[in-house]
Amino acid sequence: MATKQGMELVDRDERGVDRAFRKDVLAGLSQPDKAIPARWLYDDAGSQLFEDITQVEEYYPTRAETDILGTRGDEFAAAVGKGRAVVEFGSGSSVKTPLLLRAIDPAAYVPLDIAGDFLRAAAEDLAQTFPDLPIWPVEADFTKTVHLPEAVESLPKLGFFPGSTIGNMVPRTAVDLLRSMRDTLSPEESEPAHGLQPPMLLIGMDLVKDVSVLEAAYDDAAGVTGEFNLNLARRINRELGGDIPVDDLRHEARWNDAFARIEMHLRTTRDIAFTVSGESFTMRKGESIHTENSHKFTRRSSYTLLQAGGWTPTCRWTDSKRRFSVILAEASVLRSAP
Ligand code: AVI
Repeated sequence: MATKQGMELVDRDERGVDRAFRKDVLAGLSQPDKAIPARWLYDDAGSQLFEDITQVEEYYPTRAETDILGTRGDEFAAAVGKGRAVVEFGSGSSVKTPLLLRAIDPAAYVPLDIAGDFLRAAAEDLAQTFPDLPIWPVEADFTKTVHLPEAVESLPKLGFFPGSTIGNMVPRTAVDLLRSMRDTLSPEESEPAHGLQPPMLLIGMDLVKDVSVLEAAYDDAAGVTGEFNLNLARRINRELGGDIPVDDLRHEARWNDAFARIEMHLRTTRDIAFTVSGESFTMRKGESIHTENSHKFTRRSSYTLLQAGGWTPTCRWTDSKRRFSVILAEASVLRSAP
């Protein structure tokens, strides 16, 4: 049975359980190294907790990126030019968007998001601020190639992917996503012969920095990130009829240097046994469930990732404390190379 929750299409069983959630949780808990995909952190409670995280003192990425978007408008305008259609991938509440739109004078704005109700409400809010800007919200899973509205077909495109969300993907998935973004923005290979300027992408990528700063950003003193992480176990109990002893789990955020990423784990403080959807699991004291990766980049590693995804970096900005980068890239021309 497929039902609409909000306007999001969710495949539910006869008891209303999200089948994909159950499948990912059971598979992830059955592996020797337990892990659950990070997307399941974002139910309503988790999404609200993430909004709260962006306000805590230690979580610098949102402030740092907003600083760049708010102060480098003239440089964006010079590099991007006027009259593009801005296509925002996973626009959500679009809080950073006005800063960009104000700077570059676009011809249209196309927010893409899987949460349809949320998307349309945010688009209506934005229309109040930019009454002359055509806005075309598209409800879609932006990890796949999306067919853009006909009205923007003839316009040059600027993809916008802020927040360093790309860092939540392992490199292979990140490259797949960058390639599908390229396909979404230039379905017929907008080479110069087509007469359309090649698409561009403006993307936020968080930087490698002092481990103590990184670990504090993902383990704030007020415990908001801890609640965000523990909410996943609570969600499993709520939605999948689980009895995970949440009080015996501890939030952990640790830097994995080999992979240049912060990892979030839920670590047990004693041996535990529990069931989820009727299946039994045990965990030894000190064992963990890996719940999120947040990769951090150097200038080189960010450029390598973008190039692997079909994008050539052309400009790069960092905030005044050099904590975060925003990169402008152009769709690479596919030609013979050595
Ligand atoms: C959404 N994403 C970019 C956040 C990040 O920084 O990786 C998610 C997050 N997890 C814990 N704190 C923030």
